[in-house]
Order: sequence, then structure tokens, then C-alpha cells
Amino acid sequence: MDYLLKSGNPANLRTGCLVVGVFEKRRLTDPAAVVDKASRGALTRILKKGDFEGTAGQSLLLYDLPNTQCERLLLIGLGPEKGFNLEAYRKAVAGMASLLNEAHPLEAISTLTVLEPEKGDLYRVLRETVITTEQSLYRFDQCKSQVQPVKRPLKKLGLFVGSRRHTKAAADAIKQGKAIAAGVALARDLANLPGNVCTPSYLADQARSMGRKSRKMRTRILEEKQMQELGMGALLSVSRGSRQPAKLILMEYSGGKTGSQPVVLVGKGLTFDAGGISIKPSEAMDEMKYDMCGGASVLGTMAACAELELPINLIGIVPSSENLPDGDANKPGDIVTSMSGQTIEILNTDAEGRLILCDALTYAERYQPAAVIDIATLTGACIVALGAHASGLLSNNDELAEEVLAAGDHSNDRAWRLPLWDDYQSQLDSNFADMANIGGKGAGTITAACFLSRYTKKYKWAHLDIAGTAWKSGAQKGATGRPVPLLTQFLLKRCGMASK
Ligand code: BES
Ligand code: MN
Ligand code: ZN
Repeated sequence: MDYLLKSGNPANLRTGCLVVGVFEKRRLTDPAAVVDKASRGALTRILKKGDFEGTAGQSLLLYDLPNTQCERLLLIGLGPEKGFNLEAYRKAVAGMASLLNEAHPLEAISTLTVLEPEKGDLYRVLRETVITTEQSLYRFDQCKSQVQPVKRPLKKLGLFVGSRRHTKAAADAIKQGKAIAAGVALARDLANLPGNVCTPSYLADQARSMGRKSRKMRTRILEEKQMQELGMGALLSVSRGSRQPAKLILMEYSGGKTGSQPVVLVGKGLTFDAGGISIKPSEAMDEMKYDMCGGASVLGTMAACAELELPINLIGIVPSSENLPDGDANKPGDIVTSMSGQTIEILNTDAEGRLILCDALTYAERYQPAAVIDIATLTGACIVALGAHASGLLSNNDELAEEVLAAGDHSNDRAWRLPLWDDYQSQLDSNFADMANIGGKGAGTITAACFLSRYTKKYKWAHLDIAGTAWKSGAQKGATGRPVPLLTQFLLKRCGMASK
């Protein structure tokens, strides 16, 4: 989709569809009032009939309004004017986007962009408009044999900025919004693909092709033999039960000064998690194809970063494997040695994410990172704690944790911090090895992070548990692309490129 900045008199905008907002109790927004005046009160007369109150979620499509240059006028209900915030704005935009796609105007102009939701400057409003529009038009139909194409889908959206000048902030907002939306879509596509298509090798191929597309990105794939040489006994133990070879995907983006310390993103890339010998119950097991969403978010964020040519050094590491039951699979009680030298007693083969992550986190040390963020669908316990709204955040550094939380707040991709107190560490005690891979009853998300914390002592580290946020179940089943918005915002802010 193309996005263009538009200004002038709304009534004189020549377009297939002009979108104007109306607050509750039929309070016209400024552009709506201009259109109403031009049409000598036609809008007011229609509203007086009582079909449209301006409540959130309401919409009304009008044709041939006198003295305007638009073929259609789409009224969008905004809800109460008082307390109108970015959340309400996003809902209005999402409604607008799907209606425009159905109304077939091919191109449209939205004047919702002149609204000033709480905490929403123009940069933010424009960026949110692009991201929300792209997100609501997203479809995943790669695996359907017959797809009904949308007739005359929306191709161009004008963003009305009133008399305001076309500033650099506005242009940046559109550019960044598009890059974030594309990163989100990439993560969603990879995640929605089934486990028999999206294998570790497939993920590696996708990463390779990203490396070929960008001059500043280099992709390397470590094969099992090389992982063996590095002593990655924890990671390899998970892969032993699978016929698909494990891959350690390394993506190195050099946009920053040579020698400046990189940010490292580490994403769990379990392309299918059946639990292994500690097999999962069969209900909704298909959703365990989503156990690579952390890895997908790393690819999505790297893509956004490369697209925007961010002046930063960024490393993406995606350890990728399947976790299946097999004659050669991990067994409860097995003891493996991680790359760090620490030994692990595997008391539950379904706690495999931490086993592949710990070796990747040790590998991250060689980059001398400024900060490491790992992203993983790590624990069902995180869904119990936080549901589907916030990702779990655990960190060994308060400043970094604040930075991640702020990025999540800004990008509507929130995280909530849980404690990583030493008190929890003893839950990982093992009678036979340095640690067990599970922490017993209680605080499953925290003990999983405690496990990882034993491999991240040498750098500033934050862990995002995205078990509840990475995908939706039920009728709306599908990947969300989270936390690509959070991660990209985090990086934009580090580059001084995001306003506020
Ligand atoms: N990938 C799962 C976590 C998960 C489960 C995410 C359901 C989203 C929905 C992870 O590998 C796992 O199985 N974790 C176990 C850990 C337990 C054995 C300590 C879990 O959460 O049950
Ligand atoms: Mn598991
Ligand atoms: Zn898993």
C-alpha cells in the first residue's frame, strides 16, 4: 500500500473515499464540519435522522454528498471525545481499513489523522495509522488452493495533515510505520506456516535470503557438526529426537560504527514442540508450530532494521530445532553438558526452549554485546500470569528493563516485569547435575528465566516470554507478529530516531 500526505480543504479533496470521524453524540470533527458546511448541512441532516451516533465501532458510507469532490464519504464513529486515546484511535483506523477494503474505492483519504489522541503527536498518529492499516489488511492464504481475491483492494491511502507542513517527522513516521508493519507481516507469515513447511532448514533459508538482499546484513548458518565442535550439548540434545537437522542462524547487521558494541537478539526457533518423551496432551498441539515465534520476531525485526538502514550494529541469533519423541530423543533424567560447561539434568523434555536458548546465549558472549534480549514462547505459566495482553519481562539490569518496558508502551506491544530474585534459584537444584531444567511447582515463568540467567552473567540481558502474546487461538487463530513493534521501537530509540 502507498501512503501519501495530503493537505488542503477536505471538501475539495478529489478521492474515491473521504474518511471523516464523528465523536459520540454526533460531534463532528473539524474535517467533518468543513464537509458539512460545504454541503450546506447535508451531513447534519443525515445524522439528525438518528442512524449514526458516533459510538466507537459505528460506520456509515454515504454517496454523492453535494459540493464535495469525493465519490464516497465514510463516517467513522470515534466514541467519547473526552479521553480519546491512541487505543481508541487504533480501533477507529482498524475499522476504517477493513471497510475501505470492502467498499472498493482503490484509493482513499483519511482525515482521522488530524485527531490528537492523548499522548499522540503527529508522528505517532501517522505511524500508528500505517501499522494498524497494514495489520488489519493482513491475510494468510499461502496454503489455500483457491483464494478469492479481494475485488479492487485498497491501493493508496492519503493521510490528511490539515494545513500542517509536510515535515520530516511525518515522512519518517510513514517510512518507519511501513518497515515495522513489514517486519510484523514477515514474522506472522513465518509463524503461520505449518511445521512441515517451516522447518529449521526453511527458517535458515529465509534468513539467508535476507542476508543476500541487504548489503549490510550477513547471514551464517552453523550446522550440527559445528555446534558439536562448540560443545553445544544442550541445544543438540533437543534436536536428537528429530529427523530435521538443527540450525543455528546467525544474522549480522552492521549499520553502526565499526567496533561499536552490538545489540543481540536471540529468538527461540522451535519449529514444532511436541514435548518430546514428556509428550504434550493432544489438544491444540497444532499450535506448537508457533513455538518459533521468538525466532520469527528476530527475523522480522532485523528486516525492519535493514529496511530503515538503522545506524546500529545488530546481531540476530536463532537456535532452531524440532522437539519430538523418538528412540534417540532426550529422556527424563538424561544429563547434558552445555557450551558453558554447566551440566543440566533434563527432568522434563518439554522444557526444551531453555536448552536450546542457553547455548545460543553463551554463543552471544563472543559479540561483546551492549545488551542481549532473548524472545521465547517459553512457558505456559506466562499465559496464566499475564494472559494475552502483556509479554513477560525478566532482566538482570534495571535500566535495560525500563528501556524495554518503555518501548513496549510506546508501540502498543506491552510487556510487564516479573522478579528475578535469587530466592527462586534453588528451585532448579538437581541431585545429579549443576541444575535441573525445570523448577517444580510455582513461578514457572520466573524459574525458566532463572535457568537462562545462569548463562547471561557476562552482559546486560532481558528476557521476553511471549507465550501469551505471539499468537491467538480459537476462531481468530493466527500469529500476531509480536514483539516486532516493541523490538523495533527499542532499536529506533537507541538510534535516537523515534520521537518521544
Ligand atoms: N513451548 C512451550 C511453552 C508454551 C506452552 C507456550 C503453551 C505457549 C503455549 C515450552 O516448551 C514448554 O513446553 N514449557 C513447559 C515447561 C514445563 C515443562 C516446565 C510448560 O510451560 O508447560
Ligand atoms: Mn516444550
Ligand atoms: Zn517449547
